[in-house]
Amino acid sequence: MKNPPRHIAIVMDGNGRWAKKRNLPRIKGHIAGAKCAKKITTFCRKEGIKFLTLYAFSTENWKRSEKEISFLFSLLENYIKKEDKNLIKNEIRFRTIGDISKIPPKISAKLKTLEKKTGNCRQMTLIIALNYGSRDEIIRAVKKLLRKKHVENIRREFENCLDTSGIPDPDLIIRTSGETRLSNFLLWQGAYSELYFTKTLWPDFGENEMMRAINSFKRRKRRFGGY
Ligand code: FPP
Repeated sequence: MKNPPRHIAIVMDGNGRWAKKRNLPRIKGHIAGAKCAKKITTFCRKEGIKFLTLYAFSTENWKRSEKEISFLFSLLENYIKKEDKNLIKNEIRFRTIGDISKIPPKISAKLKTLEKKTGNCRQMTLIIALNYGSRDEIIRAVKKLLRKKHVENIRREFENCLDTSGIPDPDLIIRTSGETRLSNFLLWQGAYSELYFTKTLWPDFGENEMMRAINSFKRRKRRFGGY
């Protein structure tokens, strides 16, 4: 693909409604959602997207039932177990953003191992946002910054304290399921991102619609405040 967006970030919304429409329990929607996440990752790797960020669990998602939360983490654990070889084979580096110190230690340890194992992969970076919220990230970054004795360039050093340090800002942010808000996702990094909203529920979001989102991005003129 010519001139694809370098970094695409996705709010994978609508798993619950997808399940409800089919009279299925919500967890079935998350299973279908995880399958879709894998399909879209493969597609992005094939199309030369360099960074893909997927919002898997927000700082606000702790309000859900214990059953649903533990199911989401078990899905993630399963994903790590099943996907590590695949990621390495396809040269995909794995990273997380968000406060993973607050997620079950058994899982955070596995996430760190996967980050290390894929650390030298260079074709694409897959970033999973876990226990992530922009306001929480910004406050954690400010706290880190305040611990420094001397700060020369506040903006640069602040950005280095964000979870996304070293990752370019998203060019395109997609949200599925008809909601048209950012919900605490990449608020600093998304200052100039192009936004794409679709009514499609996340488990139904396929390669064709991803292509449509990318084509819509390509037609836009980005001015970054200039003209
Ligand atoms: C939003 O749908 C989805 C989530 C909060 C979880 C996203 C998780 C996955 C897609 C699976 C795990 C991913 C990986 C990478 C293993 P919702 O439950 O808010 O749907 P609703 O708004 O229709 O209720």
